[in-house]
Amino acid sequence: MNVPFITAQEAAEFVSHGELLGVGGFGPAGSPKAITPAIAEKARREHAGGRPFQVNIVTGASIGASCDGELAAARAIDRRLPFSVNSEIRRAYNSGEVRYTDLNLSDNATHLRQGITGRIDWGIIEACDIQEIHGKLRIYLTAGIGIAPTICRLAQKGVFVELNTWHSTKLIGMHDIYEIEDPWFRAPIRITHPIEHIGLPYIEVKPEQIAGIVETHLPDEARSMTAATDVTDRIGQHMADFLIWNMKEGYIFRNKLTLQSGVGSGANAVLGALGSCPEVPNFSIYTEVLQEEPLRLIREGRVVAASTGALTISSEHLQELYDNINDFRGRLLLRPSEISNCPEIIARLGICSLNTAIEVDIYGHVNSTKICGSRMMNGVGGSADFTCNSVLSTFTCGSTTKNGCISSIVPFCSHVDHTEHYVDAIITEYGVADLRNKCATEKAEALIAIAHPDYRPLLRDYMRLAKERGGHTPHVISAAFAMHDTYLRKGDMRLTDWNEYIK
Ligand code: COA
Repeated sequence: MNVPFITAQEAAEFVSHGELLGVGGFGPAGSPKAITPAIAEKARREHAGGRPFQVNIVTGASIGASCDGELAAARAIDRRLPFSVNSEIRRAYNSGEVRYTDLNLSDNATHLRQGITGRIDWGIIEACDIQEIHGKLRIYLTAGIGIAPTICRLAQKGVFVELNTWHSTKLIGMHDIYEIEDPWFRAPIRITHPIEHIGLPYIEVKPEQIAGIVETHLPDEARSMTAATDVTDRIGQHMADFLIWNMKEGYIFRNKLTLQSGVGSGANAVLGALGSCPEVPNFSIYTEVLQEEPLRLIREGRVVAASTGALTISSEHLQELYDNINDFRGRLLLRPSEISNCPEIIARLGICSLNTAIEVDIYGHVNSTKICGSRMMNGVGGSADFTCNSVLSTFTCGSTTKNGCISSIVPFCSHVDHTEHYVDAIITEYGVADLRNKCATEKAEALIAIAHPDYRPLLRDYMRLAKERGGHTPHVISAAFAMHDTYLRKGDMRLTDWNEYIK
């Protein structure tokens, strides 16, 4: 193969201050793990020498700690998009150190092709195998794809491939690589079933596009999920009952139940609870991340087909998957993020989306991203891609957090990612608020009914005061954020005194 084998440090030496790096993978799954720490090391050396060194990073979604964590700790990132889940970079966003663009994942590759994001200088991707056939290289990716195909095509100076022997070549055949055309020339994307193949199992490049191959043997960096709790089990049971009722009413076609599930421990536990519910028929999944519970459900036959952008599971679970790959073949497919999150396909497959909210307001708006309106948590990720296009868009959340000091249901969301027009239902451990075919005040009644009992009187008082002022969607503007303000001042939303805020 006429491509140089180099070290991670040699790759890092190619990278200059101000350049844009496109990094493959989706979440910690399948993301390169050797070159970015070497770039962080270079940044530290440059900074020690009094020279500026920062790069801009675009990825498929979030990425492992060896990229976001290492580079943010080394003060080596200027701009970052489109999503991340890492405490070090979260600190950097919230201190203003890193300029973060929080972007819908389905738009990411299109923005790159349009040049909106700028031109990618270097690509860095991870592969489990590279084969040379007829003078071209076939790159077989690992546990996540993200925007790797777009990165390989657009990287102006070259692509570094981390050839990671920790991943199994048994993954070959489980990827479906397809890059969509720009909107004006886009043909229908012919996916009519979650695991229908439309592309190739590899990315094809010319050898001269590859700047170097770095051999590694490093596990993925996804952590284990926290275990299900009484709250997530109750949410899962309510979700199951709600889906069954929707099927009985004919709102969802029973034999085609296809679910998307969001990120985080809550989403993982809810899907697990759904799988354990005998009344829920076997179902399919079309989603962007598969966590531990759905993979268990595939092996048990409860999930009959699953399409995902990534296998976001701990390294132990991933090795277990490789050891039992035949249980997954023909049932599991990995796709690039612009396909896993494609509005056209989400709408065609009639997906029911199950995402997690940070907070919800009494009229059904959802905040997925900002704590108390200002502090970035992770980002919108693919939640809007699914919420806007699903046949049934739901959000789950525990009714309170921080030992009951914060209610997840508030008068007005401190930040809105999903408006009431796209949100069909909210589920807490106290039940389901089905918001469809309801006016604003009916939505408020349904949502207050599933708030924590400690907060229902407070929220009812707010509604009474708001209704006195009238309007289709009653509010007392001076008091709309009183619960947030009370939490910030006194550490407990339950101490809210409306009299302090009514002007
Ligand atoms: N106010 C303040 N803090 C809050 C809060 C609120 N209303 N709601 C949650 N939090 C805090 C929790 O207390 C917890 O804090 P800790 O880390 O100090 O314990 C933290 O936020 C995470 O909450 P948790 O309930 O453990 O969340 P999770 O792991 O289930 O993730 C989201 C929930 C919303 C953060 C996560 O799903 C997310 O980032 N979503 C946006 C992207 C998305 O939906 N992608 C999927 C599309 S396919």
